[in-house]
Amino acid sequence: MNPQLPLFPESASKLSPQVDALFITWSVVSLFFTLLIACLILYFMVRYRRRSPDEVGQEEKPAIWLEIAWSVIPLGIALFMFGWGTRVFFRIYRPPADAVQYYAVGKQWMWKFQHPDGQREINGLHIPVGQPIRLKLTSEDVIHSFYVPAFRVKQDALPGRYTEIWFQGTKPGTYHLFCAEYCGGEHSRMIGSVVVMEPRDYETWLAGGPAGKSVVASGAELFNQLACQTCHRAAPNRPPRGPNLEGLFGNQVKLASGDMITADEDYVRESILNPAAKVVAGYTPIMPTYQGQVSEEQLLQLISYVKSLSGEGGTEAGGGAPNTAETAGAAGTETKP
Ligand code: CUA
Repeated sequence: MNPQLPLFPESASKLSPQVDALFITWSVVSLFFTLLIACLILYFMVRYRRRSPDEVGQEEKPAIWLEIAWSVIPLGIALFMFGWGTRVFFRIYRPPADAVQYYAVGKQWMWKFQHPDGQREINGLHIPVGQPIRLKLTSEDVIHSFYVPAFRVKQDALPGRYTEIWFQGTKPGTYHLFCAEYCGGEHSRMIGSVVVMEPRDYETWLAGGPAGKSVVASGAELFNQLACQTCHRAAPNRPPRGPNLEGLFGNQVKLASGDMITADEDYVRESILNPAAKVVAGYTPIMPTYQGQVSEEQLLQLISYVKSLSGEGGTEAGGGAPNTAETAGAAGTETKP
């Protein structure tokens, strides 16, 4: 590709060839029909032109096979493209089981990332080549959009909600990261890069950063700091004042209103910031709000910790992991009757 006029971004993720194949096929099919129709219009203009001022047009009955053909063929093509597009869509939005969890928080005007082992970066994301990465996104203020053309991925980062995207770098290099949602005065400068590294280089890079705690371990620490365990863990001789969080994540919860809800990221987040919104059946709404006391990044850490209590998000690496297991284990023995 001509570097002066880059028509196509580099292809550097596992899914980009699939997206490209779909895109190119659609473009060729569209171009074919555009040209076909344009040529037919020109041809008919000449062929059926009015030859004298008093000529009157005559009705033409097209053959039935022609009517059927020009309905069925485009329908078949459209359905085929729909099926193909759906397959690619599902692949883009369903992370593989071995994907490692990373976190991103958008903010006017920067991208803040956190690695599973706790390492943080701003406007840059280093990832190992060949490793599927699932990126959980949220925003501190307005809607942003995480866009890496070389990976063919784009996902909105929404305030107050969690979204996710996954990708797998296939060749080492540095790739553009854009914000693809107009988010204010410096939207166009909300840019960065994704650096895909050989696994060994990635390890070296991680080791070079300040020794941090894993996301789950930070969440566990915060859980204790905020004294969440006073209510969310049973004391020996009294029932817990708040619901037990062991094994909560991903399961159904019965609310005081009688509704059932799945305990997902958004539910845990809401319960921290607005505890009275969805009170669990059998408990009184005594929990204070933590609005304004925890940042979006800390919320992600708390959620990761709550997930780890259900054996989810077992992707933590590095020094924090043993600590996590210990914390979770201790909580486990305490809460069992
Ligand atoms: Cu953030 Cu545009």
